[in-house]
Amino acid sequence: MMLRNSFLFILLLQFSFSFAQLNTEAAYGDISFNTDWRFQKGDPAGAEKSSFNDAAWRQLDLPHDWAIEGPFDKKYNARTGGLPVHGTAWYRKHFTIDKKYAGQQIAIAFDGIMNNSKVYINGTFVGERPFGYMGFEVDLTPYIKFGEENVISIRVAPEDLASRWYSGAGIYRNTYLKINSPVHVPQWGTYITTPEVSDQKAIVKIETTVKNAVDKKARVTMTTTILDAHKKEVASNSQKIKLDKSSEQVVIEEIAVNSPTRWDIEHPYLYEVVTQIKKGNTLIDEYHSTLGIRTISFDAKKGFFLNEKPVELNGVCMHHDLGPLGAAVNYRATERQMQIMQSMGVNALRTSHNPPSPEMLEVCDKLGIVVIDEAFDEWKIPKVINGYNKFFDEWHERDLRDMIKRDRNHPSIIMWSIGNEIIEQREKDGWKVAKMLNDICHDEDHTRPTTAGFNNYGGAFKNKLAYQIDIVGLNYKPYDYAATIKENPGMILYGSETSSQTSSRGSYHLPITYDHQKETLQVSSYDVTVGPPWAYPPDVEFDVQAENPSFLGEFMWTGFDYLGEPTPYGGRDNSTDGYWNADWPVHASYFAPVDLCGFPKDRYYLYQSQWTTKPMVHVLPHWNWEGKEGEEIPVFAYTNCDEVELIVNGKSMGRKVKGVDTTDIPAEFRGFEKGMYTSKYRLSWNVPYQPGSLKVIGYKDGKAVAEKTIKTAKKASNIRLTPDRTEITADGKDLSFIEVDITDADGNLIPLADNQVHFSVEGVGSLVAVGNGNPASLESFQDTKIKAFNGKCLVIVKSAKAAGNITISATSKGLESSKIIVRTK
Ligand code: GAL
Repeated sequence: MMLRNSFLFILLLQFSFSFAQLNTEAAYGDISFNTDWRFQKGDPAGAEKSSFNDAAWRQLDLPHDWAIEGPFDKKYNARTGGLPVHGTAWYRKHFTIDKKYAGQQIAIAFDGIMNNSKVYINGTFVGERPFGYMGFEVDLTPYIKFGEENVISIRVAPEDLASRWYSGAGIYRNTYLKINSPVHVPQWGTYITTPEVSDQKAIVKIETTVKNAVDKKARVTMTTTILDAHKKEVASNSQKIKLDKSSEQVVIEEIAVNSPTRWDIEHPYLYEVVTQIKKGNTLIDEYHSTLGIRTISFDAKKGFFLNEKPVELNGVCMHHDLGPLGAAVNYRATERQMQIMQSMGVNALRTSHNPPSPEMLEVCDKLGIVVIDEAFDEWKIPKVINGYNKFFDEWHERDLRDMIKRDRNHPSIIMWSIGNEIIEQREKDGWKVAKMLNDICHDEDHTRPTTAGFNNYGGAFKNKLAYQIDIVGLNYKPYDYAATIKENPGMILYGSETSSQTSSRGSYHLPITYDHQKETLQVSSYDVTVGPPWAYPPDVEFDVQAENPSFLGEFMWTGFDYLGEPTPYGGRDNSTDGYWNADWPVHASYFAPVDLCGFPKDRYYLYQSQWTTKPMVHVLPHWNWEGKEGEEIPVFAYTNCDEVELIVNGKSMGRKVKGVDTTDIPAEFRGFEKGMYTSKYRLSWNVPYQPGSLKVIGYKDGKAVAEKTIKTAKKASNIRLTPDRTEITADGKDLSFIEVDITDADGNLIPLADNQVHFSVEGVGSLVAVGNGNPASLESFQDTKIKAFNGKCLVIVKSAKAAGNITISATSKGLESSKIIVRTK
């Protein structure tokens, strides 16, 4: 993130508690502006005025997503999560800025408001942003009353069906108050590239905008310093600058870094660039930017190269919601999502279909995940009745330019996507819009190629849209890959959206069927059921990627299950007003290998078996089939080893070799017909059921290197609480995700348990959400109780701003209670 003067952050933070007492010589800073807001749903007259009485309004801290508070209701569209994502609401905040700041520049920066926001300061309208995914800054300087109370009021008015998925609603990203001296680096004011990179030396080019906001000439000194990951100075440059009255200047520097450490997927090394502006000897501005030194290149025959080494993109598409936390951004929740993705073997993310939170890009920089930063799901032609098309003409240029300016210093970003499955593919003139957007991207950043995800190949190629961008993404047409390569020599291609298989964690339907069940509203985790008509099992994509090595890789739909778009239930049409509630209460998607809570489904291991090298083996289904003794149960194993041996109740069922296709289905039909997965990636046995155990052993070069065992569970008796971290930061934001398992006395998961678990949290933290990953559950995410779904649920606790212990207790009728402690530091 580009933040100012972090060294003053602690000091300035006090500002948000006691404005009048702010006591620092520094007349500048970015201050978190998240606390003590007032919130009210509805549209009361005069709510923008300072004098408006908001004393009875709810008090809350940002980021805030009112929609996740629910309740779920059939009157809302399941397509957007069955939650109140539309309506009007107001946020207000009273604040005072000390008189000594008179003469400084005051602004408020929002990382994103969902959506149609209008901003007022002391009753005056000062800014707006229809697009919920882009942040913006509003200059408050002319309106601030120093030393007196000011009131900022924000009207937020998202419409129904503004999106094809759950968007969240409200001021759902972070907010900052900025106090700048008249001369400063403005928002997104640096552009850092590395025109030359070798092992000996990197040339870092830094284009810094310096703004003089007042009607008076200025002379300042600007110093740019590059720090390594240990904050040690590696290079620096200083120069004097003369600024005209009310002007902006771009200062270009080229600074050499000797023996640079590269930013890479395995070793995501980050430098920091610090820009300081001094007037005489007084520091008047400081601005921090991220720097990663790496090279990227793309080749139509050889694929993608990072630091001159080929990398196959094992990617996922992700929407922005954080499951039970909704859309309200949280750094740790974002980091956890991507750590789970990395553990599956993911090295790439497509931010479908809109600009992500700044936190997501920070996480990808830090973890070493390359990113396609995507701008739009719609241009001028709508997909939903209140979609972005309404704003496109007026706002697309500003939104797209801002996205690139905001994001272009992130080493993780490798492409700019101008759109997903844009309807203009079918239009004769659609290419003109594509060209215009493509040109904007190149104008703002000349170091990365553009892309888009196409689903209408006929249209996109015939109408020449596909030829306007640098790299062509293909959605869901694996059997057209080879022909597309042949017909377009020189074109760089990849699978921008693949598979769209659906399943429910821990649900297995026997005999194996190829349809999603209407009775249970769950999709079998044998993963032979597909989803929408264009979907196909992952195996198909594995095959075609191997057959077409010039492809850059794939971005599977989707990494995490998300709220809304309840496929394969509800509705499937892409009509503008399609009502998706036919299978209510289903209100979330089933697409991902990981459920809404972050618990892996079996398909997670299928990807892991293809995308990772550390020996692993996985076995399914569960082994509790009471009443089916003697019946044959299909057992599947996924592995990245050479062979797997299955041992049932101590007896070997023999070994199977991976990579050998024993199905006789012609490749071109696989995945598009019922049950057409391939045995190449999945080993299977038919096992007559007897209670006991299933054990799989993975062999590499004849040696046993991985194993997994599941046992028939006995009576439910315990609640196992497993936190992802037992120690978290006492910053009022950090989270511990506690996995809750219903087990027997020996610790075996009860595979179908649906016991309701009650939680209580004491000490220096609070409960923020519960979840169970069931897309058909209407239980509130904000309750203190939830039913287990197929044996599991989740409770999320947040630290307070004090060090100590958080004690989490879980109780459930008929089970032993449990307690754990999470420490905060
Ligand atoms: C694609 C679309 C995605 C999602 C997906 C579901 O066509 O781009 O946003 O709807 O289908 O399979």
